[in-house]
Amino acid sequence: MSFAPSTARVMPNNVMNTPIPSPQGASGDTTINVNGIPSGANATAGPGIRRRDRQGSFGGSSRAKVLRPFNTANIKILLLENVNETAVGALRAQGYQVETHAKALAEDVLMEKIKDVHCVGIRSKTKLTKKILDAAEKLGVIGCFCIGTNQVDLEHATSKGIAVFNSPFSNSRSVAELVIAEIVLLSRQLGDRNNEMHQGIWSKVSANCYEIRGKTLGIIGYGHIGSQLSVLAESMGMRVIFHDVAPLMPLGTSKQVHSLNELLEKSDFVTLHVPETEDTMNMIGENELSRMKQGSFLINASRGTVVVIPALAKALKSGHLGGAAVDVFPKEPAANGKFFESELIGCPNTLLTPHIGGSTEEAQSMIGVEVSQALIKFINNGTSIGAVNLPEVDLRAIRDEENSIRLCYTHSNVPGVLLRITNILAEHNVDKQFSDSKGKIAYLMADISDVTPEQIQDIYRRVRETPTNIVTRILY
Ligand SMILES: NC(=O)c1ccc[n+]([C@@H]2O[C@H](COP(=O)([O-])OP(=O)(O)OC[C@H]3O[C@@H](n4cnc5c(N)ncnc54)[C@H](O)[C@@H]3O)[C@@H](O)[C@H]2O)c1
Repeated sequence: MSFAPSTARVMPNNVMNTPIPSPQGASGDTTINVNGIPSGANATAGPGIRRRDRQGSFGGSSRAKVLRPFNTANIKILLLENVNETAVGALRAQGYQVETHAKALAEDVLMEKIKDVHCVGIRSKTKLTKKILDAAEKLGVIGCFCIGTNQVDLEHATSKGIAVFNSPFSNSRSVAELVIAEIVLLSRQLGDRNNEMHQGIWSKVSANCYEIRGKTLGIIGYGHIGSQLSVLAESMGMRVIFHDVAPLMPLGTSKQVHSLNELLEKSDFVTLHVPETEDTMNMIGENELSRMKQGSFLINASRGTVVVIPALAKALKSGHLGGAAVDVFPKEPAANGKFFESELIGCPNTLLTPHIGGSTEEAQSMIGVEVSQALIKFINNGTSIGAVNLPEVDLRAIRDEENSIRLCYTHSNVPGVLLRITNILAEHNVDKQFSDSKGKIAYLMADISDVTPEQIQDIYRRVRETPTNIVTRILY
């Protein structure tokens, strides 16, 4: 991977090699040249830079400046795989050009389409490989409208200063609701009754069927999903205990227990909501299952590697467990169809679902909102909060003065960079500056006031020429 300074890239305005027309309705007198530097009558003659028109604000205050060094209509966005309408609407409302496709594109078509766009939005089927990223001459930001980012060559995107955003928590509620449903279904053996009825078998039983009121739910992992579930379960009359590696504030009357074993021994229902880590790999095996109460239930909608499936199948067949609901598996088929194999098939009172815990219309809609807002903030304001591959940097809104600018500098994380930047900015009024690093890359934002157009050009040129430059943008 090379962190050598790229040829100057300013996202997105560097890519525009013809003067940009003024924003809608404004008298057209400011242009932006190939390097994103304002030029033309207004830019050079006046005391400051002409204020851009306002289309939405991220500053929150009436005095917050909307940073817009480019005509938003020139920003090209490619959305693939039927990205939710909430995102399409939000991006179009900014005035960007948005092209949408219902499906993933074939590699050669994608290579051609991506060449010209500043931002691409994908879900899980589009693979943004090194080859495709290298074809993307103007790309500054990628939105993954899903949970994971495995489909993107993150290392290569990072080396090019391309920010990548996703939406890891938009479907928490959907998972929590599924687990509530499963608790009731398991407790009433509904999976088995349903199967029997579909085979024409009438089997009216009440033995070993229970209300969930008053039962103890043990939650392993009290994060976004676990804590929501806690509130829902209590509202249905359950007692909630939880185990987490971190000491956490319990919601409602739930209680954090001292150990995993304590949770396993006290719970009627055990549900897993931990991430996939070395520590959680095979976290629930034969030993842990044997510690669970006779006739209790296990639910896993977290990651497939957390539970040892053969041990679970054995505990279900022996009757030690009263049932289980499993949504995630160590090996999951890559496509829909008759591809699923597991030792759990045919186990008593066992609900099996194809990793649908987070798959709801509401979650898709939330993902659309969350990712599109992150993209807009990055394009318009330089904010990298929520990026998976860049350090997260933000500054409070820039003051609404015509001659203030924001410098956004993505650069290699090596010693001496800040000294160079300080030297360049030394004679200017730096209102605020923040810099952070993540591995080999670092990102600096600085707001500078009282600068003339000539000084802006000078700052831009000198920052861009630093040997550590990856992407330099100036917003104003
Ligand atoms: N089934 C689905 O469709 C679906 C959808 C969304 C999320 N998930 C999965 O659900 C899981 C939880 O998601 P989340 O958003 O609540 O995550 P989160 O990061 O908000 O919470 C995870 C919690 O687990 C705790 N934890 C980590 N290691 C632990 C350990 N060894 N023992 C006990 N606690 C531990 C963390 O401290 C944290 O509080 C993740 O694995 C995620 O991939 C599944």
